[in-house]
Amino acid sequence: MKVCCRAPGKVIWFGEHFVVLGKPAIASAIDLYARVCISSSQHTIIESRDKNLVYRYSRDKEPPKTLKPFKQIVDYVLDSNIVEKLRSFHAVIESDIPIAAGLGSSAATSVAFTAALLKYHGLEPSHKLVSRIAFEAERIVHKKPSGIDNTIATYGGFIYYRGGFMKRVDVDWREDYTLLIVDTGRERSTGFVVKKVLDRYSKWESVMEKIYGVAEEITSRALELLVKGDLEGIGELMNICHGLLVSLGISTYEIESIVHTALDSGAIGAKITGAGLGGSVMVLAKRGCVDDLVKKLSLLSPRIILVKPVSKGFIIEEK
Ligand code: MEV
Repeated sequence: MKVCCRAPGKVIWFGEHFVVLGKPAIASAIDLYARVCISSSQHTIIESRDKNLVYRYSRDKEPPKTLKPFKQIVDYVLDSNIVEKLRSFHAVIESDIPIAAGLGSSAATSVAFTAALLKYHGLEPSHKLVSRIAFEAERIVHKKPSGIDNTIATYGGFIYYRGGFMKRVDVDWREDYTLLIVDTGRERSTGFVVKKVLDRYSKWESVMEKIYGVAEEITSRALELLVKGDLEGIGELMNICHGLLVSLGISTYEIESIVHTALDSGAIGAKITGAGLGGSVMVLAKRGCVDDLVKKLSLLSPRIILVKPVSKGFIIEEK
């Protein structure tokens, strides 16, 4: 028996970091995917094709760091009796989502792994259960995750997320606009950046409270504009939101160069997406500007990906 599952990466349009302290955020799934195939095997093996790592599962043996979330998922489903008895398996994990680039690669792999694992054990992987289990794995990677990454990789589409609750947002993506992901080429750990922001918050609480309040207002206004399909307005709010993210201390010289080059070359919005301090910048532009943007941004970035929002979260393919 073989079960395969894929789950999408994501961009956070508004509210990264602010969401960790309970403010709202808006994210969408994008057409980059993590894939996990699980087949029967004599021993339980977890393999990352991209990282060239193989781990033979045993309760008491720690895996290499990259594979820890998957061991955590297996331990969790056993400890909580979601799966009564483990059927040994070989899981192969692959992903097109750049790692540590703010695009939700860890959540997408955890979601795909969880859904495939449940299905392989004859269970129906509901969205709620998959997202909850993947959140346990996110805790290992990110220490204090808000839960937005596992939620969007599970459900797909556009979501408005706040304090563990999500609401789907109906957005008709306009084909005359393009979304570019511009990688700074600098990988960073989300957990590290989140801690840095929380430290700044504790030190300057009375100032930060106000900034977090403005972020909340931006996300509410963005929700109205997205529903109306006003992407010009969304671009402007992205620029304002980027300013707030700079004030959290998570921008870098590379990020600022990309943002300013994009805006000078006709983009309507450009901002950090995800944790920042490296990772990716998301750029929203009219289709006609894209060639010029790619030409100019290629001088600053090792990788530019044109992506589209997608409406589906994880998808199971039984083979
Ligand atoms: C990471 O994709 C987004 C952050 O807001 C962290 C989180 O929400 O868990 C930086």
